[in-house]
Amino acid sequence: MNPLKMDFSDLIKIAKKNGTPTYVYYEDRIRENYREFYSAFNKRYKRVKVLYAYKANSNLAICHILREEGSGADVVSKGELKTALNVGVPSEDIIFTNNCKTEEELQSALEAGILINIDSLDELQLLGRISNKKKKKAKISFRINPGVDPKTHSKVATGLRESKFGIHIENGLAFNAYRLAGEMQSMEILGIHMHIGSQITEVSPFVDGVEKLMEFVLRLKNELGIELKFVDIGGGLGIPYQEERIATPEDLANAIIPVIKKWNKRLSYEPELWLEPGRYLVGNSGILLCRVQSVKETPYKKFVNVDAGFNILLRPAMYNAYHRIRVLGKENENSTERYDIAGNICESGDILARDRELPKIIAGDILAILDTGAYGFSMSSRYNSRPLPAEVLIRSDGSVELIREREGFEDLFLHQRVPEDLKR
Ligand SMILES: Cc1ncc(COP(=O)(O)O)c(C=O)c1O
Repeated sequence: MNPLKMDFSDLIKIAKKNGTPTYVYYEDRIRENYREFYSAFNKRYKRVKVLYAYKANSNLAICHILREEGSGADVVSKGELKTALNVGVPSEDIIFTNNCKTEEELQSALEAGILINIDSLDELQLLGRISNKKKKKAKISFRINPGVDPKTHSKVATGLRESKFGIHIENGLAFNAYRLAGEMQSMEILGIHMHIGSQITEVSPFVDGVEKLMEFVLRLKNELGIELKFVDIGGGLGIPYQEERIATPEDLANAIIPVIKKWNKRLSYEPELWLEPGRYLVGNSGILLCRVQSVKETPYKKFVNVDAGFNILLRPAMYNAYHRIRVLGKENENSTERYDIAGNICESGDILARDRELPKIIAGDILAILDTGAYGFSMSSRYNSRPLPAEVLIRSDGSVELIREREGFEDLFLHQRVPEDLKR
């Protein structure tokens, strides 16, 4: 389903009924994306596990859809872990990755029996102390830093040598980590992990990363006698925000499965292949609806002021990201004008789209900002004291369901406490 072929009149109805700003997601699209992604790998490699990266969009309904499809969960906080457990993902299908886990997070992960993906030697030692105390073995993998350039925006490049993530293969650091863990009674080493970045549009960085990872896996077997249950190559596959031709799951699977099989021959065993897509599964399933409040002409630009800002959709301000925009009800108009779409946050950087040729816009029009299903709501905040927006799901049968209520102003004050003397 191409987002451009979506029925925009439905969206106008949703905006009228639920108000704006509102995120809208298409259930069908999420299911199709999952099946396409999974089968691209599974038809080439039998032992594949897909773990949806919850950070892309952790709305419970969406996580339920993906669990129903068979997806596991890649979580990065105790909140996401609780979300995964809440939607019923089995513990063996949950991996907990981040560069800075607290003692409380490690304890919860250990108790839940999920896979803990370790990012530093300090973290390994801390987990060792916790698991000794609890007399429970920890299931672990290490996130390694392969030192490859994912050729993406610098803020989402995570596998570079200079990045804060992972334990470097370089200088024997990752090797040493596995050796140490192998000597610890409380650790059950199950795998290895990398995640080199996000919105990656070509396959070559993945191939480089996988080559380095698999070469290292062979070293682990030959020199430490460690055989791994799985090799996790993370997420990161991009989506075409401007309808450009970029690498697809088919392209990626086609490129990396032969590399893995080549190394498997030398390993004489076949680890499971784990993948952690986020954006690919949900990015193009989502649309942000907002309403034009005013159109302002200056000597330099025409600004369209809308009731959504970077508190709701951070990607343009944070990554200079491009999102296609449609003026609902005016899809067939031929004459256009050039606009900047300005958010309602009091910062000059709050421009959602620059220099766009769009049909003539007037106050009251509803804009659809496309491909906002990933890193949209999940990165939102209440900055400028603006309550969080509603989220709506268009079900596979065409029915429409509210999956998150719009916050009220009372939510802004919910957890705040004013000292008694200040109330007087
Ligand atoms: C460890 C890890 N896995 C998976 C992902 C998902 O990435 P993407 O949404 O680009 O597929 C991320 C996102 O940054 C991540 O940090």
